[in-house]
Amino acid sequence: MKITTASPNRKLARTDLFVAILAEGSDPILPWEVQIPALAEESCSGKAREMRLTDATQGPAERVLFVGIGDEKLDTLAETVRRCGALIAKKAEKIGAKSVTVGHDLAGEAEASGLGQALAEGLSMGAYQLQDFKSDGKEVSLQRVSVIAAGDFKKGVSKGVIIGEANCLARRLQDTPANCMRPRDLVKEARALAASSDQVKIKVFDEKAMRRMKMGSLLSVSRGSQEPAYLIHLVYRPKKKSHSKVCFVGKGLTFDAGGISLKPSAKMHEMKYDMSGGAAVLGTMAAVAQLKLNVEVHVLVPASENLPDGKANKPGDLVTAMNGLTIEILNTDAEGRLILADALAYAEKTIKPDSVVDLATLTGAVVVGLGHEYSGATGNDDSLTDALVAAGKRCGELVWPLPIHPQHEKDMKGSVGDLQNISPPTTGAGSSTGGAFLKNFVGDVPWVHLDIAGSAWGAADRDYQGGASGTGVGVRLLIEYLQSF
Ligand code: BES
Ligand code: ZN
Ligand code: ZN
Repeated sequence: MKITTASPNRKLARTDLFVAILAEGSDPILPWEVQIPALAEESCSGKAREMRLTDATQGPAERVLFVGIGDEKLDTLAETVRRCGALIAKKAEKIGAKSVTVGHDLAGEAEASGLGQALAEGLSMGAYQLQDFKSDGKEVSLQRVSVIAAGDFKKGVSKGVIIGEANCLARRLQDTPANCMRPRDLVKEARALAASSDQVKIKVFDEKAMRRMKMGSLLSVSRGSQEPAYLIHLVYRPKKKSHSKVCFVGKGLTFDAGGISLKPSAKMHEMKYDMSGGAAVLGTMAAVAQLKLNVEVHVLVPASENLPDGKANKPGDLVTAMNGLTIEILNTDAEGRLILADALAYAEKTIKPDSVVDLATLTGAVVVGLGHEYSGATGNDDSLTDALVAAGKRCGELVWPLPIHPQHEKDMKGSVGDLQNISPPTTGAGSSTGGAFLKNFVGDVPWVHLDIAGSAWGAADRDYQGGASGTGVGVRLLIEYLQSF
């Protein structure tokens, strides 16, 4: 689906569906050419989420849809508009419209750019559908959406289209079955991304290259799989010399069976989304390149499967990470931290960024503690955490800080090696101890770890996301964070 803008002064082009967004108590703005039956207009009160569909009697639109957005305060209006965008996309698809034109009077509001962005994000995210794996799959009908926009609102729409599409890219990677989204497929996606921009370069390290770099922790995880592991490194360099260099690291575990510490079978199929961190940072890179942000952005995705096999890690095995720390693997299902350890050590040693943010579906504990509406943040730098929490509030991808107590760090000390990959059974605080483990691999670089095990999947219905599928969480958050630079 292609989203474009049309000038308010131009004659309305022919369209299958004209949508008029209206606030509660206000009169809908219908272009004079569009005629509808008498009283059809009054039937929509403008209450949030209320929709009225009517045939047009004359003019360039076949049908007209009124959609209400209530009378929101400015601080919640963007989310309402985002959801409104999604409702429009879904309704248009349902009635088989190919082309849609959206009219509104939001451009006069304060923060018109943010509202334009939210509307475009909602339209794009609301139209998301996984590429059809069904043999009798129907074609997608909605092809073109034209938003009437000018000035700041129009700028916001252009931004929102890029961000919305990047979110959909992340979700497609999450939702694709694990046998079609293997480590090598993530590499393919990353290469395609790099090929689409001359400002993005890619390096892919295979297992041989990783052995040379002594990434014994990452490599131990893929030993149990027939699929080789990769470390993907993308970099975006702005045209002007940039003052800051950030690094985003995403867990790219394309299927997590738990390894020898096998997971119960009940929800194991959902573990295809254990690469959601990788999906988020790849989606972010896609948006960064198109928005042409003035920050140097590095993206790392350690990609592997975690399966049981004769060669797989065994509980009690010892591995050595790139930074020389030895790790006793007491539970092979705590594998995310093992692949992240080497990726983080690589970031610190070779990229030397000003800050690192990693995103990972790391623990079931964060789902217990925070549910599906928050990502849990641990780290070593309060101001970086604060910046991410603030960005989360602005864009609606919420972040909640969790502590790393000195005791949590002690809990991860090993008896055989330097570290162990799980804490003793009675310590609790699983998300904090996961963060405490990772802290050993970032050196002194300001760093935040976002545990997205809850927020990446199964969120409450918000029209543009929700239910048993990926949310693409992280893309909107990281872009919002970068824009605060
Ligand atoms: N990928 C899982 C975490 C997870 C759980 C993601 C539920 C999404 C939903 C991770 O690799 C894992 O298995 N973590 C273990 C860690 C434990 C052994 C310390 C967990 O949370 O049980
Ligand atoms: Zn696991
Ligand atoms: Zn995992």
